[in-house]
Amino acid sequence: MAREITSVGVIGLGTMGAGIVEVFARNGVRVLAVEISEEALDRGRANLTGSTDRAVARGKLATEARDALLGRVTFAVGLAALDDVDLVIEAVPERLDLKRRLFGELDRICRPDTILATNTSSLSVTEIAVATTRPQQVVGLHFFNPAPVMKLVEVIRTVVTAPEVVADVEALCARLGKVDVTIGDRAGFIANALLFGYLNQAVELFESRYATREDLDAAMRLGAGLPMGPLALLDLIGLDTAYEILETMHRRGGRNRRHAPVPLIRQMVTAGLLGRKTGRGFYTYLRPGSGTVVPDELTPPPVEPTDVTAPRTVGLVGPGPLATTLATTLAEGFVAAGYRVVEVTTDEAELVRLAEVDLVVEAVVDDLETKRALFARLDQICRPDAVLATTTSVLPVIDLAMATGRPADVIGLHFPRPVGERQLVEVVRTVRTSAQATAVARTVVGALGLTAVVCADRAGFVVDALLFPYLNDAIRMLEASYATVEDVDHAMRLGCGYPVGPFALLDQVGLDVALEIQRGLYQAAREPGLAPAPLLEQLVTAGHLGRGTGRGFREATVSS
Ligand SMILES: NC(=O)c1ccc[n+]([C@@H]2O[C@H](COP(=O)([O-])OP(=O)(O)OC[C@H]3O[C@@H](n4cnc5c(N)ncnc54)[C@H](O)[C@@H]3O)[C@@H](O)[C@H]2O)c1
Repeated sequence: MAREITSVGVIGLGTMGAGIVEVFARNGVRVLAVEISEEALDRGRANLTGSTDRAVARGKLATEARDALLGRVTFAVGLAALDDVDLVIEAVPERLDLKRRLFGELDRICRPDTILATNTSSLSVTEIAVATTRPQQVVGLHFFNPAPVMKLVEVIRTVVTAPEVVADVEALCARLGKVDVTIGDRAGFIANALLFGYLNQAVELFESRYATREDLDAAMRLGAGLPMGPLALLDLIGLDTAYEILETMHRRGGRNRRHAPVPLIRQMVTAGLLGRKTGRGFYTYLRPGSGTVVPDELTPPPVEPTDVTAPRTVGLVGPGPLATTLATTLAEGFVAAGYRVVEVTTDEAELVRLAEVDLVVEAVVDDLETKRALFARLDQICRPDAVLATTTSVLPVIDLAMATGRPADVIGLHFPRPVGERQLVEVVRTVRTSAQATAVARTVVGALGLTAVVCADRAGFVVDALLFPYLNDAIRMLEASYATVEDVDHAMRLGCGYPVGPFALLDQVGLDVALEIQRGLYQAAREPGLAPAPLLEQLVTAGHLGRGTGRGFREATVSS
């Protein structure tokens, strides 16, 4: 039977530690909360009381329960206070030398049977464990931010961790109302190994001015259904912590370029722009520690009313086998928004009905020659001032624009999957698209009740470019037999608050679609880290395409 842990020590009361104290104390465990100095202790105490007061104000915690919770916490400076607790967990900054030194000291101070746990996100738990004389009693206990909210805890066992210690901490997680996933000691474990490549790539898009911070974040919230945008999430995590995690994952994880920290992160850390904790990161906050964003010099001005003539008549070209849902959804959306809609197929005789429309939106099959021929024909048929839009998700919009004699009037309108469920449209501007056509596209998206993000004509635009490499990374993790399909899906839903796990999403999207998008991203960037995972290629070859075929990752097994 697992040993019952009734008292714990928590070291470091910053972004994570204060939340971890709250989790324990809320569930009846006595906590010794330790910091490095009186000043840091005051900050830590304020973090805890701030969080519990907010919970009371929101009606999530009764006043008496809050008082009882706080009554279980004793604050202290220095490690000496930890000489009689059942378990210690540290949440000090992500540096190996610091953590090894700390564990060496804990080994001397704590009772011989005390379990020593680290909340590290990326460092080797094994290297930390061997800094003590009791490596069999050292585990990783990786909570997620914010600790009181996120359900997941990754339990990391090293090759020397005793099975009964693992059983003890698993029982503790259950008592805390958490769901644990127990895994081996690998850089980034499950969730961070999949999350940080994506966060890093988002910073790269921001650094290259591909889209604004607001548009990047809106794209992933509204276009992929994630609870937060990547830049806002980095501000919550802390840029210093994120930098250290990326550094370690890059070093320990085979020097995958997806984890090489983008230079901007380092610059922001040096400048003290650490995110919410210093009041400024990618965004500016009301005060240090606050989550309320206030306007700054990067905040876009309110959209000026433009003098564009809003279109009244929309021509819809469909359907292709894949585009059927899109074409139907669009037709319904345009009618509901008050447009007169002319629906046609690519049939020559039908196309002529588009002669007088203000805007054409084509949703035919995503094949370059089919679409180029269509745009060449639209160029002959449509009025000179009509805007011609493509809904392609894989083809360069400029290739279609150049099939016409009016590339300035051609634009992309990309509706992220699942169509009809997402509140977002990516407005894709080529190097030839006019400001006028962009303004028309924005107006139309607004009239449909959706949010427009404007981006450049690059493979995957924003949403697919950030989403599919993450899905591909998840497949690589499965190939490496590090974790199961269920554990990975669990980790991303419960640790990061994603609406679905990567494998459930891949089965939903279709593995053939995912492979095609990933191939496009790889070809555009020639980045080895973006090459489609061999397992994805094999499943597609075998006809296991997920949705529509009844078999995908859910039934798939890794074959050698
Ligand atoms: N920030 C996140 O989202 C997140 C999520 C999961 C895990 N983690 C991990 O949690 C750990 C802490 O990260 P954080 O973001 O909370 O860092 P943080 O910088 O917000 O807090 C670190 C705290 O440790 C204290 N500290 C430093 N040295 C100390 C010492 N010798 N003794 C006692 N206290 C000391 C600091 O005063 C500070 O309050 C890291 O290992 C990180 O990888 C972070």
